[in-house]
Amino acid sequence: MKQMERTPWADLDGQPRELTAMLLAALEAMGRHPEIRRVRRTAREALRPETGWRLLDAGCGAGDVARRLAGETGGEVVALDVSAATIAAAVERHDGSAVRYAVGDLASIDLPAGSVDGVWCERVLQHVDDADVVIAELIRVTRPGGRVCLIDTDWTSLAFDGVPPALARTVVDDMHGRLTPRRADMGRTLRRRLVGKGLRDVTATPVTCLFPDPASAAVVLPMLNPGVPEDAWTTPPGVRQKWFSHVEAAGARGDFLAVLTIWVVTGAV
Ligand SMILES: C[S@@+](CC[C@H](N)C(=O)[O-])C[C@H]1O[C@@H](n2cnc3c(N)ncnc32)[C@H](O)[C@@H]1O
Repeated sequence: MKQMERTPWADLDGQPRELTAMLLAALEAMGRHPEIRRVRRTAREALRPETGWRLLDAGCGAGDVARRLAGETGGEVVALDVSAATIAAAVERHDGSAVRYAVGDLASIDLPAGSVDGVWCERVLQHVDDADVVIAELIRVTRPGGRVCLIDTDWTSLAFDGVPPALARTVVDDMHGRLTPRRADMGRTLRRRLVGKGLRDVTATPVTCLFPDPASAAVVLPMLNPGVPEDAWTTPPGVRQKWFSHVEAAGARGDFLAVLTIWVVTGAV
């Protein structure tokens, strides 16, 4: 699979301030989406954090999951993200739970070996330069017997119905090059990566998210989001407009459908 260009998610601090704010708002909207909540419930059940566990939320974004995990387990959560703007947004949203926010690159985590009981890493590995280097770091900081939970999208699983297939292919191919990640297939590679690192009791659960209308899909899928600026599209002239008119028509008929698989993979160190 060819390596894609870096997306804005790989370098939020390098983006115009308005774009960073838009992406953080998009993350929060995704966190409220019922299908993303289903993915997170699946991950929570797979990680099985025990009371008092010290957890790392690796690539925490605005820290919603970190705060929820801290509230549920009663232990400290280290919420780590490479973006200072994102960590500032997370600190603004702090609710008094036992979360310690830090700026840092997952390729070289500033924590001692074996210093956490578990790791949550959601929709981050698809954006990093070398996922195996990051996974090795996540394993290094986890104590023997602790668990690592990786959650990532398989963008190559994205499929539509109710819109012309050739048009959908054009749009998806275009967006995969820029707005979706360096490794479009990351989700389904996670099991192999954890097995390769010698983790025990590796489990892999594909969660196929269903978007039965355009509005629901737009929260998670950039090519359905009319708020993504037109200049982010590099499709031939007229394709964007044609796409949205077909999407709208399918929505009006009630036969629009999109599906996307997000993988939840865990292993014991
Ligand atoms: C799509 S967001 C996911 C955020 C959060 N995990 C969630 O699911 O809501 C990807 C996050 O990974 C962070 N990120 C990307 N590369 C990183 C790296 N090398 N080290 C740490 N964080 C990184 C980004 O800054 C961004 O906050």
